[in-house]
Amino acid sequence: MDLYEYQARNVFAAHGVPVLPGSVAATPEEARAAAEKIGGQVVVKAQVKTGGRGKAGGVKLADTPDEAREKAEAILGMDIKGHITRKVLVAQASDIAEEYYFSFLLDRANRSFLCIASAEGGVEIEQVAKEKPEAVAKIPIDPLSGVDLAKAREIAAAANYPEAIRDAAAEVIVKLWETFVAEDATLVEVNPMVRDPQDRIIALDGKVTLDDNAAFRQPGHAELVDVQAEDPLEAKAKAKGLNYVKLDGQVGIIGNGAGLVMSTLDVVAYAGEKHGGVKPANFLDIGGGASADVMAAGLEVILSDPDVKSVFVNVFGGITACDAVANGIVQAFKLLEERGETIDKPLVVRLDGNNADEGRRILDEAKLPGVQRVDTMDEAADKAAELANAGV
Ligand SMILES: Nc1ncnc2c1ncn2[C@@H]1O[C@H](COP(=O)(O)OP(=O)(O)OP(=O)(O)O)[C@@H](O)[C@H]1O
Ligand SMILES: [Mg+2]
Repeated sequence: MDLYEYQARNVFAAHGVPVLPGSVAATPEEARAAAEKIGGQVVVKAQVKTGGRGKAGGVKLADTPDEAREKAEAILGMDIKGHITRKVLVAQASDIAEEYYFSFLLDRANRSFLCIASAEGGVEIEQVAKEKPEAVAKIPIDPLSGVDLAKAREIAAAANYPEAIRDAAAEVIVKLWETFVAEDATLVEVNPMVRDPQDRIIALDGKVTLDDNAAFRQPGHAELVDVQAEDPLEAKAKAKGLNYVKLDGQVGIIGNGAGLVMSTLDVVAYAGEKHGGVKPANFLDIGGGASADVMAAGLEVILSDPDVKSVFVNVFGGITACDAVANGIVQAFKLLEERGETIDKPLVVRLDGNNADEGRRILDEAKLPGVQRVDTMDEAADKAAELANAGV
């Protein structure tokens, strides 16, 4: 989960990373009140989960509370690269002597952590990396030893931060590492990290990505989710513990295991080329234990997506045998029926692997309305695509 800047700022503050006084506002009037409380010159900043806000006109200075209200009025509702601005951060304006770049991130390729830092900040780091690669330091971080003050000094030196502020920067770097570890982040980025005229270091802008896999031990993170911006079906699936991703096609897909679901997406997209270009409507992995409840939850999520014209249930029985899955489907139909939800979209089911014969027999006997059983993955994908195309 990516955080908004104002959330990142709060997380930083909680870990002792120096940030400027500020608060978030959803209306121009709230922005005015926030500016009044802060006093003096402020910046009004669009809160959107994308970069380049400044260039898009989403970061503006205001000298008075009334001006902050005007700037907020202009920025709220602004479309920045497809993201609608619903909130602004009103923060104290800082005197800036210099701007630096700093980040900690998960380095998947090297199965480790990496620090990227540069004395050239404020602009896009990608651009600096391209034009002046020697100005961007990349320092591997040993996950076991982490970042103590000595390591932080080494980073500040490698980044070529000026001597005068190296110690101050090192202290902030240690706190950023503490933030990264304590919050189970995969990215903590500060751009710009600012040196003010008194040689203080301030995190002026923050980008934080939290690792959703650590949600179980981070109970506080749930409240950082922006419910308003979440896809309602994705939220529903998450509440039921399903891995669901909405795509923009017409064939709903349910499978067990991420690998099988991914290859199902490919096979359906390929089959769809012959059937009016239909594509997968979603990615839904019911995981290992395909109980009736899980199957009912999966079907419910998929069937409530109006884009879905047909559903392809592709299950390879392993630890969970096909007869259990077949029973799951039968009971899911019952469950949904009892709830008064009619299943009016065609379902194609392919069962293979452990106890496939028994699973197929159960499905055939149940004679569920609109359900067709197809034995191979390719043929089933073709059928599902054909039905989706007919139903479009
Ligand atoms: N509190 C502040 N006081 C003074 N100037 C600021 C303040 N916040 C931002 N700025 C100026 O605006 C520039 C852009 O701000 P910021 O980095 O927050 O947004 P951005 O870089 O445009 O957005 P993103 O990082 O999402 O691409 C900064 O580099 C800085 O020069
Ligand atoms: Mg920035």
